[in-house]
Formats: sequence, C-alpha cells, structure tokens
Amino acid sequence: MAGRAIFRWGGRIVGGLLVLVLLGAASAYGVSERRGHAKFDVPEHMLTVIPDSSTIERGNHLATIRGCNECHAPNMGGKVMVDDPAIGRLVSTNLTNGRKGGALTDRDWERAVRHGVRRDSTPLTVMPAHEFTGFADEDLAAIIAWTRSLPPVADSLPTTRVGPLGRALHAAGELVLYPAERIDHEAAHPVRVVPAPDAQYGKYMAAGCMGCHGATYSGGKIAGAPPEWPAAGNLTPTGMKSYDEASFIAALRTGRRPDGTALRPPMDPKMTGAMSDVELRAIWAFLQTLPSMETGAR
Ligand code: HEC
Ligand code: HEC
Repeated sequence: MAGRAIFRWGGRIVGGLLVLVLLGAASAYGVSERRGHAKFDVPEHMLTVIPDSSTIERGNHLATIRGCNECHAPNMGGKVMVDDPAIGRLVSTNLTNGRKGGALTDRDWERAVRHGVRRDSTPLTVMPAHEFTGFADEDLAAIIAWTRSLPPVADSLPTTRVGPLGRALHAAGELVLYPAERIDHEAAHPVRVVPAPDAQYGKYMAAGCMGCHGATYSGGKIAGAPPEWPAAGNLTPTGMKSYDEASFIAALRTGRRPDGTALRPPMDPKMTGAMSDVELRAIWAFLQTLPSMETGAR
C-alpha cells in the first residue's frame, strides 16, 4: 500500500523540493520514459472464476480490506486519484464491463494484479501489484467475480500522465511508479489459502501491511510519504509489548492503542476494521513469530 503514499502529496510541494525536482527533472524524464516502455514477460496462468454468491461476497470483502475499491472507486469504475502539475495525473482503470476497449479477460486480470503488467507487456503505473503478487488463485478469482457482478460503469476517464515530481521521486527510488519492476514474475502462486487464525494465514493477510510497515514489519519512515504522515509503528514483538491479541484487534477496529491514544492517518480503521476476527487473529499470530527488531530496521 505504499503506492498510495503519493496520493496525499498532491499540491503540497514546497520550494526547496521543487528546485531539486527541476534539476532532476530532465534526467528523471529519460529514466522513467524508458522504464515505462520496458516489456515484461509474464507466464500464462489459468484461473477458474465461478461467480457463486459466497465467492462474490468474499471478493467484495477482499476488495475492501486490500483497498481495490479505494483506488478504483466504490463502483470499481475507476477515478482520477491525483491531478497535480508536479506529481502528475494518476488515473485508475475502470474495471467494470462498461470500460473502454471491452471487458477484461481472466488473463488480463491475472497479469495486472499479480504482475502489474498490461496486455501489451508494458508496466502499469502505480497499480501496487507488488503487494498483490502473493494472492492465491481463488482470492483473485473472487475479486474478479465480484467486480463482474457490479453494474457496468460508462468510461470517460482521462489518461495517466506522470509529472516532473513524480518522475524525480521515481528516479530517486522514493516512489514505486512501476511495481512490475519489483516482482518475481516466475514465482509460483498458491491455488487456495485456507482462512484460519494461525500464523500462516496471518502472513498471507499481513502482506497488505508491508507497504507502510516495511518488509520486516519494523515500521519507521514510509518511503514516498507526504510530510505530515507519522512513521509507521513497529509491529515486531519489540514494538507490540503493550498489546495482546484482544487489544491489537481493538486497535485495528477502533483506531485506538491500548493506552487510548489515536492511531493517526494513514492507519485506516475503515480498512483494517473490515477484517474478520479470523483475519485479525491470524495477523496477530503471525506478528508474534517475527524476530524482535528496532524500529525502522528494514
Ligand atoms: C494505490 C491505488 C490502487 C490500488 C490499491 C489498486 N489499484 Fe488497480 N490500478 C491502479 C491504477 C492507477 C491503475 C492503472 C494503471 C495504468 O493505467 O497504468 C490500475 C490498474 C488495474 C488493472 C489493470 C486494468 C488494465 O487495463 O489492464 C486491474 C485489473 C486492477 N488495477 C485491479 C486491482 C485490484 C484487483 C486491486 C485490489 C487487489 C487493485 N487494482 C488495487 C491503482 C490501484
Ligand atoms: C498506508 C500505510 C499503512 C498501512 C497500509 C498499515 N499501516 Fe499500520 N500504521 C501506519 C502508521 C503511519 C502508523 C503510526 C500511526 C501513529 O503513530 O499514529 C501505524 C501504526 C500501526 C499500529 C500501532 C503501533 C503502535 O506503536 O502502537 C498497529 C498495531 C498497526 N499500524 C497495524 C497495522 C496492520 C496490522 C496493518 C495491515 C493490516 C497496517 N497497520 C497497515 C501506517 C500503515
């Protein structure tokens, strides 16, 4: 979800940064143009999408807790996420059957969500596929089934255009413009992950926390985040000393720590609070298995 950090930047660019950006812009332009036209080979992968009601319901749940319908709009019709002269105009895709160019095939979905790659093999821009690449076939199929069950939305979206600051942040490694670059495209994918309140399922679910809390979950500064965001909390046992399972679940549902202090944005109880007991217990169980680390040791 670190990809989302950029969206709160819009319009908050200060002088010093802008100068740096202008200096960097020319070279950054070349770099990101080239990387944006790179081609990625993605192996074929068959999915089975069966749109029964329990699958559709799970798809809706997953789209909520993983933030698909935050970026792609609640009706999944896509939206202009950022429109800023410096960052650029970042537009998410209309994923309903009303989209321009015809409905997405299973293959298009799989390539986009687990690989961050378009039909023509070029990388999608800021679509955080590096956080979704571990999805099990069944879960991806559920999101597809749910999206296809929605009313078609007519498509009148403009195209994405990355601005000079967006390119400079990308060249500096602060912004993941092309998540496809960070994905092992040959990795195997699980067919099914069985929900259970254990560390194994917790690890699967906690992949959505990594964008901000880091690959080691030790928290610290979030790359590419707007200046007003606090550092992410340390979720390894060192940072979780004042929590137990119950207060951890309560914190993610209510947005309050055990001592009553509020978790500031971008922690979002709308998203984490929509997780089931099993999902939250599983994440807690997984976090307990992590080695203790100092905050920010990534
Ligand atoms: C941080 C915002 C963000 C989140 C979260 C996000 N997307 Fe996207 N997605 C985008 C953007 C932006 C694009 C368009 C990229 C482009 O056009 O280069 C996109 C494109 C796509 C496409 C490609 C469509 C095509 O034309 O090939 C699919 C499929 C997709 N997203 C599915 C999902 C699913 C499923 C989820 C949740 C698991 C999700 N997205 C979460 C921003 C997001
Ligand atoms: C968009 C970024 C983002 C995502 C995604 C995110 N977090 Fe956070 N999280 C933060 C930030 C920033 C803080 C620090 C908030 C503060 O200091 O007020 C935080 C704080 C926390 C805390 C409190 C830590 C403490 O020291 O008391 C917990 C617990 C937590 N997050 C759990 C999670 C879990 C579990 C997930 C995934 C399901 C998750 N977060 C996803 C950004 C994020």
